[in-house]
Amino acid sequence: MPQRIITAVALVAILLSYAVSSIAATAEENYKFYCAQCHGLEGKGDGPNATKNQPVSPRDHTNAAEMNKLTDDDIINSITDGGPATSKSSLMPPFGKTLAKQEITALKDYLRKLCKCKGK
Ligand code: HEC
Repeated sequence: MPQRIITAVALVAILLSYAVSSIAATAEENYKFYCAQCHGLEGKGDGPNATKNQPVSPRDHTNAAEMNKLTDDDIINSITDGGPATSKSSLMPPFGKTLAKQEITALKDYLRKLCKCKGK
């Protein structure tokens, strides 16, 4: 009997920690959930949705030379309004309705960590 109680308590603890973490998703979690299927788990532009028969490849976020061409605002705008916001491909979807502004800013910071670059 006590063992069952312990199991129940452990289960509740696990469920609670899930609930808490889904309220405050980190930029890394958001990236893995929303971006990695195209941009790759490590941001190298090689996610499972990035196939050769697509006209453009997802940005390699670890490419400092390319990422340095973008200002912080460019990054925020393309995440918020999609590729066309920075005259890029509409294959890059808009996330302005999916993610909160602060989550998008946090993703921008996360991308700056991936490229180890500051931008223009
Ligand atoms: C359906 C695939 C797909 C998903 C999902 C996706 N992207 Fe993209 N992304 C692209 C493609 C394709 C491009 C390249 C567009 C181009 O170069 O014309 C791109 C480009 C970008 C750029 C560069 C834009 C520029 O002006 O050069 C940024 C920044 C970016 N993505 C961030 C993200 C973030 C952050 C997420 C997750 C919130 C995300 N992307 C999700 C496909 C995707």
